[in-house]
Amino acid sequence: MSIGKFFVLLSLAFLTASSASADVKLPAPQTSGGMPLFEALKLRASAPGGDFPATELSDQELSNVLWAATGLNRGDKGWTVPMDRGLPPYVDVYAATRNGVFLYDWRSHSLLETSKKDIRPNIGLQSFVAGAPCSLIFVANSESLSAVNESLRSQFSSVAAGAMTQDVYLVSAAMGLGTRYIHSIKEPEIKSALSLAGEDSVICLMLLGK
Ligand SMILES: Cc1cc2nc3c(=O)[nH]c(=O)nc-3n(C[C@H](O)[C@H](O)[C@H](O)COP(=O)(O)O)c2cc1C
Repeated sequence: MSIGKFFVLLSLAFLTASSASADVKLPAPQTSGGMPLFEALKLRASAPGGDFPATELSDQELSNVLWAATGLNRGDKGWTVPMDRGLPPYVDVYAATRNGVFLYDWRSHSLLETSKKDIRPNIGLQSFVAGAPCSLIFVANSESLSAVNESLRSQFSSVAAGAMTQDVYLVSAAMGLGTRYIHSIKEPEIKSALSLAGEDSVICLMLLGK
């Protein structure tokens, strides 16, 4: 092989490697043991925004949190949170970290990379949001919601996000993680960063750290 050809192949290999998606297969979630539910209920609280815990979660901790938020808990058609008529979750959860943005895929319990950018500095109206190691972003998915009666879509996606975020609060309490519900968000910026459909709406964030 000529030296020229060698360098062309080397650059192609480099480009492919650097643009390859970095999906993450999460470890299986913890589904037994842990803090009793009533103790977690007693501890449920928002971590202070101004002094938000700055340490990143481990993959196991993130796995537990995402599974609690919207994971499968009964075969392939039952979830940790209730949905209208048992429909598949119509609120998606994205995780924004310093490594990029990932969509939680409850089917495979994986994180699917949607962007390599760190968008955390530009998603919240309060400055401390940028410093949270991970922000979960809850998005009402208009395509999934087309299965719900039109007049109920907004209400039902809020109900779903309420159940999901409370699960995040409880599992965080049980594991000693810090979390905080955030409504004050930069929705247009998030929609653009996540390349969301026009009718999708961003409901809230849950900051995570320890
Ligand atoms: C609907 C809702 C919206 C909220 N929005 C924000 C917000 O934009 N920024 C923030 O710092 N905290 C926000 N929070 C967190 C609340 O301030 C917090 O839950 C409240 O002070 C009660 O504290 P606790 O969760 O420890 O009981 C929100 C909470 C809820 C339930």
